[in-house]
Amino acid sequence: MSEPLQGKTVVIVGAGPGFGRTLALRAAEQGATVVVAARTASRLDGIVDEVRAAGGTAIAAAVDATEPDSVRALRETVAQHTDAVHGLVYSAFAVPSMKPLAQTDHEQISRGIDLSVLGALRTTQEFTPLLEAGAETPDAEQIDAAPASSSVVMMASAVIHHSRERYAGYKIAKTALVALGHSLATELGPRGIRVNTVAPGYIYGETLKGYFEHLAGKYGGTVEDVYAHTAEKMDLRRLPGEREIVDPVVFLLSDAASAITGQTLTVDCGEFHT
Ligand SMILES: NC(=O)c1ccc[n+]([C@@H]2O[C@H](COP(=O)([O-])OP(=O)(O)OC[C@H]3O[C@@H](n4cnc5c(N)ncnc54)[C@H](OP(=O)(O)O)[C@@H]3O)[C@@H](O)[C@H]2O)c1
Repeated sequence: MSEPLQGKTVVIVGAGPGFGRTLALRAAEQGATVVVAARTASRLDGIVDEVRAAGGTAIAAAVDATEPDSVRALRETVAQHTDAVHGLVYSAFAVPSMKPLAQTDHEQISRGIDLSVLGALRTTQEFTPLLEAGAETPDAEQIDAAPASSSVVMMASAVIHHSRERYAGYKIAKTALVALGHSLATELGPRGIRVNTVAPGYIYGETLKGYFEHLAGKYGGTVEDVYAHTAEKMDLRRLPGEREIVDPVVFLLSDAASAITGQTLTVDCGEFHT
């Protein structure tokens, strides 16, 4: 039996040390050729080495998703390797202000929107022709067959479901990203491209562990205390690990999700019932 991403090329923009690295390894294990893109070339090279050591295929390409010329150069690099892209994951993220709106200058909010929302838009627009080339043309005479579509997955956050103090800048950007996903799904669906967002509550990996260490230092206590306090709000009394966020993304990239577009999948161990 073939793997779910066999024969597909998947581009991950904003490939960091946690989610991005784990997704690259998992997507390659599931058969994809993976392109990892972000600003830190040394980290990308490390991810590529790990994928190759595990028997997968990957290339690294530096990109700054806030720079149109850089996103264009990424697309040109990818186009040198392939005529078609089947999956695009937009995960680029920088820690937002985490201050009340009254103390957040508009420039900070704009920067969050530029990276999270406009970065996703300019990347999707740049890759649309390659994504369209990755989709099968529907056969009008075979209405009961599901043609393979291409898939864009944009990483939102369960912050879209709450309005807690200090999360406003992050919420504004991620909620706009969900709205972008809806509109792109409408516009790109006729070209065979699905667009969905995934909203993790937390991803218990490198980035979050660092944040919990910061909170433990700031308020006293240990990382385990911060984890326990956070996890008590979840139905499952724990936080999702990287693989538990990555696997739903792999599902949305795969043809098993061929009829799913314009959706937001919340993955949060049951913190919010949406
Ligand atoms: N971690 C969580 O608990 C959590 C919870 C909910 C949602 N999420 C979402 O899930 C996604 C992955 O989270 P994560 O914790 O793995 O994030 P992360 O470790 O911070 O990885 C995101 C990566 O984005 C890259 N990036 C930042 N600015 C960029 C730019 N201008 N152009 C290209 N790449 C850029 C950074 O790499 P470079 O510095 O090398 O560019 C960074 O490593 C994010 O979208 C985040 O909002 C995370």
